[in-house]
Amino acid sequence: MCGIFAYLNYNVSRERRYILEVLLNGLRRLEYRGYDSSGIAVDADLLPALSSAPYAGAAPLVYRQEGKIENLVRSVYSEVDENEVNLDAAFNVHAGIAHTRWATHGVPAPRNSHPQSSGAGDEFLVVHNGIITNYEVLKETLIRHGFTFESDTDTEVIPKLAKFVFDKAHDEEGDVTFIEVVNEVMRQLEGAYALIFKSPHYPNELIACKRGSTLILGVNELSGQKIGKSFHDVKALTANGKPKELFFSSDLCAIVEHTKNYLAIEDNEIVHIKDGSVSILKFDHDKEKPASVKRALSVLEMEVEQIKKGSYDHFMQKEIHEQPHSLTTTMRGRLKDGGVLLGGLKEHLKTIRRSRRVVFIGCGTSYNAALAARTFVEELTGIPVTMEVASDLLDRQGPIYREDTAVFVSQSGETADTLLALDYALENGALCVGITNTVGSTLSRRTHCGIHINAGCEIGVASTKAYTSQIVVMAMLALAIGSDQISTQPRREAIISGLSSLPGHASEVLKLDSEMKELASSLIDSESLLVFGRGYNYATALEGALKVKEVALMHSEGMFAGEMKHGPLALVDENLPIIVIATRDACFSKQQSVIQQLLSRKGRLIIMCSKGDASAVSPNGSCRVIEVPQVADCLQPVINIIPLQLLAYHLTVLRGFDVDQPRNLAKSVTTQ
Ligand code: F6R
Repeated sequence: MCGIFAYLNYNVSRERRYILEVLLNGLRRLEYRGYDSSGIAVDADLLPALSSAPYAGAAPLVYRQEGKIENLVRSVYSEVDENEVNLDAAFNVHAGIAHTRWATHGVPAPRNSHPQSSGAGDEFLVVHNGIITNYEVLKETLIRHGFTFESDTDTEVIPKLAKFVFDKAHDEEGDVTFIEVVNEVMRQLEGAYALIFKSPHYPNELIACKRGSTLILGVNELSGQKIGKSFHDVKALTANGKPKELFFSSDLCAIVEHTKNYLAIEDNEIVHIKDGSVSILKFDHDKEKPASVKRALSVLEMEVEQIKKGSYDHFMQKEIHEQPHSLTTTMRGRLKDGGVLLGGLKEHLKTIRRSRRVVFIGCGTSYNAALAARTFVEELTGIPVTMEVASDLLDRQGPIYREDTAVFVSQSGETADTLLALDYALENGALCVGITNTVGSTLSRRTHCGIHINAGCEIGVASTKAYTSQIVVMAMLALAIGSDQISTQPRREAIISGLSSLPGHASEVLKLDSEMKELASSLIDSESLLVFGRGYNYATALEGALKVKEVALMHSEGMFAGEMKHGPLALVDENLPIIVIATRDACFSKQQSVIQQLLSRKGRLIIMCSKGDASAVSPNGSCRVIEVPQVADCLQPVINIIPLQLLAYHLTVLRGFDVDQPRNLAKSVTTQ
């Protein structure tokens, strides 16, 4: 949770307005990670000091606001207006840091927002993503040394600890470098974190470090020397003297509009920017000093359009409508010569085939995607599949064996529960496979092998296009594992041909948009919604209900249709809307009888069926029917979820709620 961002221009003249906009825009790009409060810290001369600030002058200026980023933007620009600041004035070098927060410790309030400070004079300022687990012990120690705390956050111990380390080293040894301070702070911190430090003791320098949470360095070389597609040595690339812009960010979305050259910082690395040059050092608990390491920059394969809404009103809407394209990019280059080619798995397929079982592990929508895949993975591979919600696996310390293949599914690749479950599976010796949308994510780095879903940046908090791409990737995974089985070859061929036609069918089902809007307007005042599915589409029922719940803020439950008469039937009356998924597959006739039983209790039904089946599911035309294109049975969940995503979207807009930033949620849940 939370997003951190920093911008440093070196040897290149940048106007005040530009520097401010880069920082504020970085936060806008990261806002989906948390939107309770935000803040920035810049040098005093970038903006006139607040007249009331006791330490105006050399100290940095910190602006913090509760609520959405636009509150912060307004507060900064009202300061600019009030002080008649000349936004055209340029700076040859400047280092600013920024943060957007999803509250974990302490309510959303300016004092709990970041940057958190070492105290008067803001000698050390820190933005943090993650959780410091030993903050209480550190806080007690610092209080004993005379520090007073203003916030309820775990983060505040970090800048205060930095000041403590700095003062002590200064008294004992005179000089202390920024790296030495941060190295000592890291020695004392426990938990997960990505941190950026700014200090007036080290003007125009920034230091970032990380353990657990993701952190990206972006490098924009402005000397006219083009950076090629191959890897480069960071040190060579960023040698002194060349004009450049450098960025730190919690994810790639916030740097893509500035540069395509990035480095995914590794755990325990400290990245120091000084005089425009970058040094990377490796923290080692047992060594006094961190050792210098060489890293290579990667080239980002993402286009700026991906992070913009374009002609859509909301990211969720854009991402739903993007699915024909995202499904295409997920499959691009992977369906070859009547088979499936998954480069990331090549070396491990034999081991997977020998596994005693496959264990799917994920949370929320990613879990639902794995559930949608379970049946066809068992069918095509012959390997039993068990399902684990990541947090529940950890709560139970459920059995994971060396002979297991544990498949971790996560859009962000950063979900704390999923990553902890990954640690657990690694400890237990399982082969760990990652399925993620995020190149360079912790999941993709820590698993033995994996598959990127290549759905493109997903910004709406409610996951949509990632869900359908995840199912498609798991279908390809099942096909690849089962590719040595002769008996299932015709079935595999049918599924491969079904995969190729999915983008076209996704385009077709999207034409239901206005029908779903109309349906949404008929449900706008309902208090509750049930979704009944079974077989391949039980997961569709869970996922459809989750979408409605999380964005439209309407109670909704996905249920096994087979369980209806074991309890839920008691809820049925003429008011409660119930969606029954009854597209053609082996369960169709069972769903027909469920419909009959619901109708005989005067149920208010909305039935999703295959095109042409309206009269088969609603013989007297009494039910509302959603007709969808029919595809291979095991791929039907990819198509069936799309009308439900549209329904959730329109319900949210009509009910007047925030589509892209639903109440209390954030995109990547990096805390347990
Ligand atoms: C729902 C949603 C969440 C996520 C869950 C896991 O729309 O987005 O349920 O699916 O938090 O996130 P990832 O997939 O990033 O691990």
